[in-house]
Amino acid sequence: MKVSPSLLAANFADLASDIEMINSSEADYLHMDIMDGVFVPNISFGFPVLEAVARICKKPLDVHLMIVEPEKWIGRVRDTGARIMNVHQEACLHLDSTVRHIHEAGMLAGVTVNPATPVMLLKDIITEVDLVLVMSVNPGFGNQKFIMNSLKKVMELKKMIHESGSNAMIEVDGGVKEETGRLLAQAGADILVAGSYVFGANDPKGRITLLKNL
Ligand code: DX5
Ligand code: ZN
Repeated sequence: MKVSPSLLAANFADLASDIEMINSSEADYLHMDIMDGVFVPNISFGFPVLEAVARICKKPLDVHLMIVEPEKWIGRVRDTGARIMNVHQEACLHLDSTVRHIHEAGMLAGVTVNPATPVMLLKDIITEVDLVLVMSVNPGFGNQKFIMNSLKKVMELKKMIHESGSNAMIEVDGGVKEETGRLLAQAGADILVAGSYVFGANDPKGRITLLKNL
């Protein structure tokens, strides 16, 4: 299992210490949640923070844009050196073209779906994307309860990926802890995002290792 700890639950008054912890952990990525107060009812942090973290983080960045018109920011995300750029299906009127532009910028393209968005809507783009990010909570806040229906979505998605010959990975975000992580591993998830479960622990690196071994 790959693990992408979500910076949203880190200590914003001492990000350097948390990034140091991530650098010396078994994490595969660092998940960065950018919100605009329009697509989601909250605002997290923007490019200055993303850029500062990118300078000191040794793990590849997995950027999750919870914003309207994410295609406007492809160049700016690329300039941080981010590995993955996740855009919401619900925020992209021309998703195929946005995915192409993300690839042209040299990043992996991730498409994110909200809990109420059927995975079937990705059928005609699934062979073009590198990753599908399944939201297992409604986006905007950390530390929410895992929505059990997400397990069914992961299984459906796995089937769609298999039948289409796509190489897309499945990432899941929201309410991931040991038990939900184990169920997600069984359902076919490839990457687990975890915010409060990792950063809220006394032993965050231990929790990253635990999720990695699921
Ligand atoms: C929610 C964000 C998540 C969030 C997950 O909108 O996309 O990445 O940090 O937090 P936890 O793991 O605490 O549910
Ligand atoms: Zn996220």
